[in-house]
Amino acid sequence: MLHDIRKQYMFSSLDENSVLPDPIEQFELWLNEAIESKELEPNAMMISTVDEYLQPHSRIVLLKEISPEGFTFYTNYEGQKARQIAVNNRVCLLFFWARLERQVRIEGTVEKISEAISTAYFLSRPLESRIGAWASPQSQVVRSKDFLDEQFKYYQQKFGENVPKPPFWGGFVVKPVSIEFWQGRPNRLHDRLLYVSGSSDWKISRLAP
Ligand SMILES: Cc1cc2nc3c(=O)[nH]c(=O)nc-3n(C[C@H](O)[C@H](O)[C@H](O)COP(=O)(O)O)c2cc1C
Repeated sequence: MLHDIRKQYMFSSLDENSVLPDPIEQFELWLNEAIESKELEPNAMMISTVDEYLQPHSRIVLLKEISPEGFTFYTNYEGQKARQIAVNNRVCLLFFWARLERQVRIEGTVEKISEAISTAYFLSRPLESRIGAWASPQSQVVRSKDFLDEQFKYYQQKFGENVPKPPFWGGFVVKPVSIEFWQGRPNRLHDRLLYVSGSSDWKISRLAP
């Protein structure tokens, strides 16, 4: 059954002479095309961390900002991924846009963003999401689903409409050292362009698929 699933990738191509010299700008171009193509969650990205035992861990988070500095997501600073980042700040991000037959792999280091930017973003979130951030001790074992509902009600009553940012919640920015763009092509001869950060600019190489 799985052996019979075969797709010919025909949608597009990727040419070193027409891509933008800055991979973050090239990424924004592809992200906008993913949004326009009605990908279900175009800003969903896998982030992989590696713990002190060299065990990798992956999960999806949502990209919330792109800047020349890098790629920002928000999370609980006391959860599993944050604990792994505290011992090893090298991470990998992965986007897969199935409709466009595209993958982007971003490798780099990750840092906390400023408290002020995290607060501004937190306060822009819907009320229920803000309460949810207080109610969930991310990645910890909880005794039951009821426990989370009770926590939610507790913080709802405690804060009413004015839910401040929890001190244990905020953003991380992934600063890239390399970004690889993959475009599916016919006959498995896919296009892969790798940008590697140099002292003053980005070097682009083509990789075999
Ligand atoms: C579509 C989708 C979006 C998600 N977005 C986030 C997010 O932006 N931040 C976050 O902390 N977790 C997000 N999650 C949950 C994470 O995948 C993960 O379960 C959680 O962050 C705990 O991970 P950890 O225990 O490795 O720290 C998302 C999950 C999915 C499926």
